Amino acid sequence: MAKERVPKEIKLKKIRDGTVIDHVPAGKALEVLRILGVGDKFPDVVAVLMNVESKRLGKKDVIKVENKELSKEEADRLALVAPNATINIVKDFGVKKKIDVELPRELVGIVKCANPQCVTNREQVATRFSVVSTNPLEIRCEHCERTQ
Ligand code: CTP
Ligand code: ZN
Repeated sequence: MAKERVPKEIKLKKIRDGTVIDHVPAGKALEVLRILGVGDKFPDVVAVLMNVESKRLGKKDVIKVENKELSKEEADRLALVAPNATINIVKDFGVKKKIDVELPRELVGIVKCANPQCVTNREQVATRFSVVSTNPLEIRCEHCERTQ
């Protein structure tokens, strides 16, 4: 019987233009896409790899979004979910720029408020938190003042 060839890993092709989000914690790729607003109306090619081997992290997720250049502001929206992600801006097949993810001073529309009475849980109002401290992370809802 012919021996079956089992590929050791799934590889994604290089992209021409767009953004590669690398070193995302294993399993967090879909949350990253949600935070970036890449959903069913997104017009371009998006490749998502979950649970691939990484020397640095053991396992990681990788996301490639074609023809979209992430801004620093968008990159920083990933701070709670993928604080160590590397954002690679690709132009004409080369990595033109790497952006680090940093915790912004304000988190808008990312975290849900823990207070069920908060206006953000009762009406269509975007959540807005200010960062009080980073280690441990403490954030304050700017609508109801509740910290979490
Ligand atoms: N990449 C891509 N298409 C390109 C160029 C790069 O998909 N045209 C991807 C690579 O596969 C890699 C990531 O973008 O996942 C970063 O590329 P590069 O900086 O060349 O890799 P490394 O040096 O390994 O990056 P790092 O040191 O940040 O791990
Ligand atoms: Zn609140």
